[in-house]
Amino acid sequence: MGKIGPGEAAQLADALLAFYDREGRPLPWRGERDLYRIWVSEIMLQQTGVATVLRYYPRFLARFPTLQSLAEASEEAVLLLWQGLGYYQRARHLHRGAQHLLRQRGGQLPEGIEEWLLLPGVGPSTAAAILAIGRNQPHAILDGNVKRVLARLLALPDPLSSGVAQKALWALARSLTPDHRPGDYAQAIMDLGATLCRRSQPLCGRCPWQGSCQAHRLGAVGRYPVVTPRPVKPHRQQVALLVFNAQRQLLFCQRPARGLLANLWEPPTLEWGSEDALPPEPSVVARQLFDRLHVRTSLPLPLAEVKHTFTHFQLTVYPFVCQLATEWEGGGGEGYQAMRWVAREAWQLLPLATLHRKVLATLF
Ligand code: ADE
Repeated sequence: MGKIGPGEAAQLADALLAFYDREGRPLPWRGERDLYRIWVSEIMLQQTGVATVLRYYPRFLARFPTLQSLAEASEEAVLLLWQGLGYYQRARHLHRGAQHLLRQRGGQLPEGIEEWLLLPGVGPSTAAAILAIGRNQPHAILDGNVKRVLARLLALPDPLSSGVAQKALWALARSLTPDHRPGDYAQAIMDLGATLCRRSQPLCGRCPWQGSCQAHRLGAVGRYPVVTPRPVKPHRQQVALLVFNAQRQLLFCQRPARGLLANLWEPPTLEWGSEDALPPEPSVVARQLFDRLHVRTSLPLPLAEVKHTFTHFQLTVYPFVCQLATEWEGGGGEGYQAMRWVAREAWQLLPLATLHRKVLATLF
């Protein structure tokens, strides 16, 4: 593993800025000065690619153009605009952060990195990116894409998640960050990671850092960054019940306030054991539905199964459709915060996860 001295670091920064001037992408948060708008973009970009964020960002800002408008919205309204982006905790953090800033600072956004770090969901790289982009402050960026770029530049032998690797990468990130145009440099290195130094099939021939890249010199770009193999994800199964009443309304339940997909809505769902459990029998499904929700139905009909991958597990959902057999007397709904009958036209007004949109789509 080679070292990068200060002279080479300055040359690399200049070469990257020249690349950015030539090929930087025109993205809506570039040239932005409003820290609120940059904060929203950086939170959306934490786990999500630019192409997807571009579909959500303008809509979110049109609905919540200021910190105050976001702080004063209901969590349900915020989740509704976030649905489909995933990692919903980000939206709750943004909302809570906006409420905190409105209450404690009269809606003023912080100008210093320490105060940004106090907000939920804002780590060192996000705080650095917000102030580099919005205030041209020279803070080092080290998000997932930048880690890959720098690990290749050094041909870093240590697994990316190790303390040794983190230390070496932060040190390199700091030494590369120039005092001159740090905001453009931050955007440029993120672009480099996203567009050329990609995880697979990197475009080394167009890379402004090719001449200094140790992994390239070794002819081994694909071997970096070194990662420890991930454990195989466990597989879970669930049954989702699409229960219609006589008015053609569908039953929805609100998930608990904590944990996976917190506060989002879903058709009532039952855990169905691990991967070797047998596919569910309609009569058993009906009985369990009654036990849990006190809802008596016609015999449920199976629909096409839905598969979905979460960060920590794989899920197969078996959707069933059925009709409410007797008038619902209320009650039940163990494990849910609330239950509601919702007409077809109003389904899109409920915040639902992509998984449950897929489940609803099996009806059509
Ligand atoms: N990823 C995270 N922040 C980004 C930004 N500002 N531009 C491009 N990609 C990013």
